[in-house]
Parts: sequence; C-alpha cells; structure tokens
Amino acid sequence: MELRDEVRSQFERSHKLAKKYYDSGKTAKARVEYLKCSGFLKHLAELSPPERRGKLLERSKKFREIADGLQDGSVKVYTSGILPPEPTETKRERASDEDKTRDRVKELIMVEKPKIRFKDIAGLDEVKERIKEAIVYPFIYPEEYKYFGVSPGGGILLYGPPGCGKTMLAAAAAAECDAVFINLKISDIKDKYVGESEKNIKQVFEVSRSYERAILFFDEIDAMAGERSSSQQGHERSLVNELLAQMDALESKGSPRNSLVLAATNQPWSVDLALRRSGRFDSSVFIPNPDARARKKIFELSLKERPVDKAVKLEKLADMTKGYASAEIVEICDRAAKIPLRERLREHKKRRTISTGDFDQAIREKSTVLPAWYARALKEIQSSDETDMFLDLIKAAKEYTPSDKRQFE
Ligand SMILES: Nc1ncnc2c1ncn2[C@@H]1O[C@H](COP(=O)(O)OP(=O)(O)O)[C@@H](O)[C@H]1O
Ligand SMILES: [Mg+2]
Repeated sequence: MELRDEVRSQFERSHKLAKKYYDSGKTAKARVEYLKCSGFLKHLAELSPPERRGKLLERSKKFREIADGLQDGSVKVYTSGILPPEPTETKRERASDEDKTRDRVKELIMVEKPKIRFKDIAGLDEVKERIKEAIVYPFIYPEEYKYFGVSPGGGILLYGPPGCGKTMLAAAAAAECDAVFINLKISDIKDKYVGESEKNIKQVFEVSRSYERAILFFDEIDAMAGERSSSQQGHERSLVNELLAQMDALESKGSPRNSLVLAATNQPWSVDLALRRSGRFDSSVFIPNPDARARKKIFELSLKERPVDKAVKLEKLADMTKGYASAEIVEICDRAAKIPLRERLREHKKRRTISTGDFDQAIREKSTVLPAWYARALKEIQSSDETDMFLDLIKAAKEYTPSDKRQFE
C-alpha cells in the first residue's frame, strides 16, 4: 500500500473512533483521536500534490481546534495520559505551552517509508540476519513464531563506530517489512523541563500505535543517560523508565505487536546501564567498520552510475581504505568525482573519466576518524569494568589497523 493510502486509512479509522468516543462521552479518548486526525491530515498534506495541500492543512487545523475545544471544557476523565487536565488559574498559559510542545514533538516525529533495502547495505550479513529474525520475520510470519512458541522482537541496540550503517540498517529493516520508520534523536526529544521529555516519549509511542506497522528508531540513545554523577540523574532515570515502560506496553498488548524498537549509539559505554541490563534490548549488536569485501561493495555501489576509468581496480581501492568507515568511503568517491568535474568547469578541459590518480588523491586527502574512535572505545570500556558486555567491540578494537598511508607518498 502506498504511504498516502495508509495514512488516509489511519485517518479514517481515527475519525470514526473520535466520533464514537465523543458520542459516548469519553472526551479524553476522543481528544486523542482528534489530535491524531489532525496529525494524519498534516502528514497527508505533506505527501500530496501542492494544489491539494491547502485544503488538507485547513482540515487538519479544524481537527486541532476540535481537540483543543475538548480540552477547554471541564473534562474530568483523562485516561490516555497524553494531556492531563490543567489547574484552572494557569490554564490558558499552560495550554499554549503544551500546544508548543505537542507541535514540536509532531514536527520531530519523522514518519518515513524508506526505500533503502538490505541489499543496498554492504557487508554485515550476519547482522542483517539477526535483525530479520527479531524484527522482519515476526511481521511476515507471525504464525510460525506462534507455532514454535518463540516470542519475537525485543529491542535491538546497534552500536559501533560512526558512519558504518546503523541508521541505514534500521531504515532498511522498516522497508523490508513494509513498516513506517519513525526516526528520532534523543537530543531532540529531551526537554529541559521536568516531565516534558517523558511526555514526548509517550507521544512518540502513541503515534507509532496509529500505524499498522512501525519501526521506532531511537538514535543517539546514549544521550538518554546523563552524566552519572550529575544532579540531573533522577530526571534522566525517569526518562529511561518511561522508555522501558512504553516498551513493556508494546509487549503486553494481547494483540499482535505493531511496533518494534531499535536504538543506536556511537558511544555504547555511555548508554544507561538500566537500559542495557533491562532485558528490553535483548540483543546488542556490534556494527563494525567494513571489511575488504564490504569496502569493495561500497565502491561498487557508489560508482555504479559514474564514469570510471577502466584501469581503476576496486580491490585496490578497497585495500587502500582499510580501516575507513563506510560513510568515509562514500565521501572519497564524491571527492574523486569532483576532481575531473572541476577541471571541466574551471579549466574547460575535455570530459574525462575518474582515474586511479583521482582516487589516490581523494584517499590521501581524506583521513579516517576511526583510529581515534577505537582508541577512545578501548579506554572507556577498560576503565568501566563492563568488558563482558563489549567483547565484539574489544576484539575489533584490538584487531583494528588502518591502512598505512605512507604507501601513497
Ligand atoms: N554498510 C554500508 N554500505 C553502504 N553504505 C554505507 C554503509 N554504512 C554506511 N554507509 C554510507 O554512510 C552513510 C552514513 O551511514 P549511517 O547508517 O548513517 O551510519 P551510522 O548510523 O552508523 O553513523 C550512509 O548514508 C551511506 O551512504
Ligand atoms: Mg546514524
């Protein structure tokens, strides 16, 4: 189903529910559904051709007004917990604050339907298989899981050096099971006011529930734990607790789950221990920098649609970029392509293909940040007596040897 159709049918469902709740006097529930209606219409507007956008946004606003109207009335029963009733004296002021928070959260909730698939990601075959087992197959073959009594899911924590495919994997996981991808940075959800960040998390899960299938991706999950010694600790702890509670709620809904949770970090040693030990993230998967085969594949993928000199040997390029991050290799390809492009534009030279010399230069000029990352990782982990949690990372760090650049000089 097209994303647009899906959003439309979600809207229709919420609209029906809203009317039902409203008619039976369940104002709080009705309000939640009206808010969702407003959100869906806004999303629909974004997905629609420009000439239809205005109307949809107008309607979205109407639904918001209805929802706000329900709040203004002296509503006593709040079951959903999204928006608790306000004390009367500060009602107006606070309501507008809440509007702002809600708007911001809505803006932060990027609901996408990614196109990227596992085949577009070089290497990481075993990781892909683990993600499939935990996330993709349970969506596609729920009856098999039931038959064998295997409970699917549980969150997955992806950790490893920057630029090696964590975000890509999460997006592709969503595409593989035809789920929407809700991508959030913890730093975006965090709010300096006590209690607000928790509400944001709650709202994120609320939104995910309104889709038939969703992958919730919490990026920079390390940002959820503050400095362990800081005075913020209590505050941060309740944020972690809220996330765990919301993940539990996913499990306990008797119906088949519709949302699965992935998290990622470049700084696994800073991830809150409660989160790691909670059992909710029952696999932690190390995403290493690409091996020779994967590096060759990344060159292949990045150069597929570019004019490359026949003399360029991808194995050689893979050799020369030992120890580089995947994203850095993608950048090297861009830089190499820009050399003949500039010659053409600035010096009006004849068009030519990208040569071995261009790649040499691009690699020479681009160094990798991974040596520093691995050094830091080893230092942090070895001083934390949590070495048992990071065996894969420690092994990779010890074996890590970047390409010796002197060979090009
Ligand atoms: N395994 C991979 N195969 C192909 N390209 C990759 C791979 N990993 C990273 N990239 C490239 O690097 C970019 C950044 O990757 P990303 O998934 O955001 O890294 P991370 O989340 O681990 O920091 C991607 O958009 C992609 O262009
Ligand atoms: Mg990322």
